[in-house]
Amino acid sequence: MHNVTLIPGDGIGPEIAQATVEVIKATGVEINWHSIELGQNALAKYNTPLPEEALEKIKANKYALKGPITTPVACGFRSVNVALRQNLNLYANLRPVKSFPGLPSPFSNVDLVVVRENTEDLYAGIEHMIGDTAAESIKIITKSASERIANFACEYALNHNRKKVTAVHKANIMKLSDGLFLNSCRSVAKNYPDLIFDDCIIDALCMNLVLSPNKYDVMVLPNLYGDIVSDLCAGLIGGLGLAPSANIGDSAAIFEAVHGSAPDIAGKNMANPTALILSAAMLLDFLEERAAAQKIRNGVYHLISNKISLTPDLGGTGTTQEYTEALCKYITQ
Ligand code: NAI
Repeated sequence: MHNVTLIPGDGIGPEIAQATVEVIKATGVEINWHSIELGQNALAKYNTPLPEEALEKIKANKYALKGPITTPVACGFRSVNVALRQNLNLYANLRPVKSFPGLPSPFSNVDLVVVRENTEDLYAGIEHMIGDTAAESIKIITKSASERIANFACEYALNHNRKKVTAVHKANIMKLSDGLFLNSCRSVAKNYPDLIFDDCIIDALCMNLVLSPNKYDVMVLPNLYGDIVSDLCAGLIGGLGLAPSANIGDSAAIFEAVHGSAPDIAGKNMANPTALILSAAMLLDFLEERAAAQKIRNGVYHLISNKISLTPDLGGTGTTQEYTEALCKYITQ
């Protein structure tokens, strides 16, 4: 029996979290879920969107499965997602992006990994007004965090039979901050002679990704570029409903979909739970439940390639519940 913290989240979060719990149950893996509330719900109850007690629970269980959490735009509390990553030092955001056979999408053979630095850059949240007419936001890049993420990307590449790591930056303009990131990646890559290492300027990378994504293999990026590029990559394989991720630190990890709380479709039983379900498969790998993780991935590939009970974002007419039932049936058959 594993102990895992469950954060259902906001918007479509509770629907897709419920679906994911059912799918894991169908694999036979026993998980004792410790459910906690964060964000708007926690604010109403505990007067803070990120109660200390919640952080302690995540630390105690080491692993958490998390639904998306809404962040107020241009006002209100700071992003709970960003605060969680910073508080728990979940420095690596791992986002694998792989095409699904049979699903109409711009490319049919994408196989990329986005490794995003998760703790600093413009997401450090240090910004202030200068009078009423200007605002300043501070971009923090440190050698230690850049080397740590470069090391993570190279280790990941080596252990997953990947050939190349590309550092992504804008060091031609931000010569000091992005320059430090790039130089840190370069110096770490020297310790990995079996990997090809190169680098690319962020704007050129975006164009190359939409023209020929297979130019790349593992990409390592500072926080903001990583956030944007991972949504772009999700688009390459058919949309946000399919992209899983893991936020990994030395003493905890949180698994969540790349997408947000999708308030436009919340409560309508039409959200695609695949991204969170595939994030849960990553969690099962960490729990050494690899057979169950593979069963889930096989089931998802089966439903998608045979167009079984697919949700509207994938061109189907299925509901969240019908898709989940079909996946559970495949797993238990
Ligand atoms: P979003 O990802 O929630 O939605 C963008 C579009 O994709 C919407 O049309 C939505 O319906 C669709 N979509 C997203 N996930 C889907 C799914 N599983 N199935 C079917 N369609 C799906 O992005 P948006 O609207 O920019 O953000 C909404 C809220 O989510 C914001 O408050 C934002 O801050 C938050 N957010 C939270 C994240 C997290 O908790 N890690 C990540 C990204 C955004």
